[in-house]
Amino acid sequence: MRAYNFNAGPAALPYEVLQRAQAELPDYEGSGMSIMEMSHRSKAYELVHERAKEQLRSLLGVAEETHILFLQGGASMQFGMVPMNFLHPEQVACYVQSGNWSNKAFKEAKLVGDARLVAASDTRPLTAPDLRGLELPANTAYLHVTSNETIEGLRLGSLPDTGNTPIVCDMSSDILSRSIDASRYGLIYAGAQKNLGPSGVTVVIVKPEMLSKANQTLPSMLRYEVHAKGNSLYNTPPTFAIYLMSLVLDWVTQQGGLPAISARNTRKAGLIYQAIDDSDGFYTGLVAKPDRSDMNITFGLADELLEPAFLSASVQAGFVGLKGHRELGHFRASTYNAVPEEHCQALADFMRDFMRQHG
Ligand SMILES: Cc1ncc(COP(=O)(O)O)c(C=O)c1O
Repeated sequence: MRAYNFNAGPAALPYEVLQRAQAELPDYEGSGMSIMEMSHRSKAYELVHERAKEQLRSLLGVAEETHILFLQGGASMQFGMVPMNFLHPEQVACYVQSGNWSNKAFKEAKLVGDARLVAASDTRPLTAPDLRGLELPANTAYLHVTSNETIEGLRLGSLPDTGNTPIVCDMSSDILSRSIDASRYGLIYAGAQKNLGPSGVTVVIVKPEMLSKANQTLPSMLRYEVHAKGNSLYNTPPTFAIYLMSLVLDWVTQQGGLPAISARNTRKAGLIYQAIDDSDGFYTGLVAKPDRSDMNITFGLADELLEPAFLSASVQAGFVGLKGHRELGHFRASTYNAVPEEHCQALADFMRDFMRQHG
């Protein structure tokens, strides 16, 4: 039986993907070897690489001329690479601080140049900043946002109109969870280990006009342009992670693509939010209702002294990964694409049972 896996990342992968990877592992398409034993310049691997790119392009609606890169170093590497490439002297990089991860991105940018906070979340309850009417200095290099704060479980609302100023988005924890208008972003980045596949590969989607403005003096591995010119094969890419991602992308397509996935994600998260909202204050959501994430559901118990008992009962009942992030405490259920609806129902049922016993 599959565990009730609510891990925040690395996180649940679709069971069908694991089975397919297992079947294909020792002898990939009659080659007598696994995909991870092949050259990254072999025909077989090239097909995997191109297919993953094309699947992402079609699922997210990315324009033909926009580059899709497979890099390493995680989303954390992007925190530094973005300002190193795009924040020039005399310019300012504007950051929206919606939670812990955007704050980390901001701090890294400050190491590189003039980075400023232009909007921030309110606390208690956590409320996403309203970005409508946001004004940016004329010398803004880019506006950085984080579409989903994984630790808080907070989703950023609509994007501001920034005119010609590009928007850079950390989409690590909600990429592929719903449809987006990819044309609104100059650059999107996402570590794979939530909705895309295993850890080890970071997807970067970047418009050509961004590259033409990038710093030319950085070491090669830090330059998006070098990776774009080399089709993410400038050096050895994480071939197995990209292969697994391509299987996940096939699976997403088979599920009906992003419209179907998004409807299911809203239903799944709704089951757990309903258990919170029906509890008469026994459970409280940590984020204001309009800003709740469908990917990471954070909640606490009104009686905090009961929280250790909730955690140990959840572990006993087979739930994995519910302990909240160390920065925030309480509980977090991450309900990424691959978490089955029945597992979310099981968690909602468990929460109601626990409340009956302790309420
Ligand atoms: C929104 C967000 N940004 C950045 C990161 C950091 O990612 P990585 O560990 O791949 O560097 C995470 C990790 O969970 C995340 O959730």
